[in-house]
Amino acid sequence: MLIGVLTSGGDAPGMNAAVRAVVRTTIFRGCQVIGIRRGLHGLLQNDMVLLDTSSVADIIYRGGTILYTGRSEEFRTPEGQKRALDILRDNAIDGLLLVGGDGTVRAAQVIDDAGIPANCIPGTIDNDIPYSDTSIGFDTAVNTICDAVDKVRDTAEALERTFIVEVMGRSSGFLALTSGVACGAESIIVPEFGIDYERVCQRLRNSVARRKRHSIIILAEGAGDAPTVSAEIRRRTGYDLRVITLGHIQRGGTPTAQDRVLASTLGYHAVELLVQGTHGKLVGQENGRISVVDLGAAASSKKPLNKESFEMAEVLSAT
Ligand code: F6P
Repeated sequence: MLIGVLTSGGDAPGMNAAVRAVVRTTIFRGCQVIGIRRGLHGLLQNDMVLLDTSSVADIIYRGGTILYTGRSEEFRTPEGQKRALDILRDNAIDGLLLVGGDGTVRAAQVIDDAGIPANCIPGTIDNDIPYSDTSIGFDTAVNTICDAVDKVRDTAEALERTFIVEVMGRSSGFLALTSGVACGAESIIVPEFGIDYERVCQRLRNSVARRKRHSIIILAEGAGDAPTVSAEIRRRTGYDLRVITLGHIQRGGTPTAQDRVLASTLGYHAVELLVQGTHGKLVGQENGRISVVDLGAAASSKKPLNKESFEMAEVLSAT
């Protein structure tokens, strides 16, 4: 049996640990493993390399992905999908493990539906994959954001300023909400619940009234453009604001122990299932246990953000 492995979409710290787990479990099961470089884009370029146990030595602690990653417009077309499937068949690949975000889940479903067994592991700092409490890279990104916001708070406090810190999350607020709770942000703005300017501004005024003249607002990129949001808050309150966009530093860095363990566990189980004939699955983690759900179910639903956590964050950062 020849198993392919690829990382696709935005990279996430811990993807290397997942690749290591997939390679070593596959070899342990007496199968061969081939790495497909640059994700779905590389698949369409037939860019592959056979991997062995030592190919994945000393990568568990490294961010990024040794397989590189990529997005593919071509794979979105029926012709591109047919060509990708032909390439997989030409290389005699019997099964495929994909690590990535929502686009990768959909791609895995296309491949599995076409008759090449595939399982997918959630790997995205956005943590927006349903049926998994967390995804590879999320914990590291939250810690990176916390580290940055703690530093911003020092200068915010010293100069009595308000900062808007824009974090990633094109269509989801998991990064903003979790880091906002961890950093004690005075306001959190996420796409799921929209921007309530009056509420945000009133919280700022309340802070000032009780002589706390610095605040941190965490804004998920998908909820609004930071300069525009900042201009509107300034217009309503008259306060001086500074804007910071954390950008791609959120995707890099040494994966936390939690992400390494998650990636290792999911990689191991996804291969075990595949070699035992269970495929077409998203292999994630729910309530501390491995969860195995149909790719179709995962691809067609949206992971809800917990409103209670959002409200809790506001209570705890009382202004
Ligand atoms: O990995 C997902 C994500 O981090 C989104 O939150 C963000 O909008 C996007 O990637 C940016 O990716 P890129 O810079 O690769 O276009």
